[in-house]
Amino acid sequence: MLFHILTIFPEMFKGFLNESILKKAQGSKVIKIHLHDIRDYSANKHKKVDDTPYGGGAGMVFTPQPLFDCIKAVKKLAPKAPVVYLTPAGKRLTQTMVEKLNKKFEQLILLCGHYEGIDQRVIDSLVDMELSIGDYVLSGGELAAMVVIDAVSRLVPGALGNDESHREETFSKKLGRKKEYPHYTKPAEFRGMKVPEVLQSGNHGAIEKWRRAHLR
Ligand SMILES: C[S@@+](CC[C@H](N)C(=O)[O-])C[C@H]1O[C@@H](n2cnc3c(N)ncnc32)[C@H](O)[C@@H]1O
Repeated sequence: MLFHILTIFPEMFKGFLNESILKKAQGSKVIKIHLHDIRDYSANKHKKVDDTPYGGGAGMVFTPQPLFDCIKAVKKLAPKAPVVYLTPAGKRLTQTMVEKLNKKFEQLILLCGHYEGIDQRVIDSLVDMELSIGDYVLSGGELAAMVVIDAVSRLVPGALGNDESHREETFSKKLGRKKEYPHYTKPAEFRGMKVPEVLQSGNHGAIEKWRRAHLR
């Protein structure tokens, strides 16, 4: 999976991409990340990318020109990739949508907005999908893009050390969309709190039964 990230804050991604599973997945070329600085596409001599809103109101709006030029340039590299605009007004991201994104596409173009949002003409002409990561307002789309990258990358074969691990997770069909069962690790007793005996029994049938009974 190749993620193209369109942002005015590419530095925000550095720490996130250089740790843990995403670092390893990039190292083994299971996923690739291309950061595109939208500001580089601004025709303004000061590289300005925002302006006041028509009709008045608070805040600024992301201007269309740098977004059009940046998206067009990235589309040339990835013609089949959908342009996904991260916005609180978008469709709420669910695990089912994450699975679809992973199955359907080899590349994703993630557009991070800022200010009061982006000029509507960009959405009308160039955006294929609007996604929200939840009913709250972030300052920019970067954190939302990171959520999409993390959730999708986990499903790319070879990204997780153990390919089985995501199959048993909270939203899997096997678990009927219920939440997780409790997890325990060593030691068997910690500050007087004991790990349930059945989980230490090695009896897989009994363990499975216990886990199903304790989904929460
Ligand atoms: C301050 S927000 C704009 C908020 C917008 N004026 C509103 O009230 O819905 C700036 C940018 O952050 C991103 N953003 C904010 N909240 C988000 C969310 N819940 N999911 C995805 N992106 C979000 C979008 O890219 C948006 O363009």
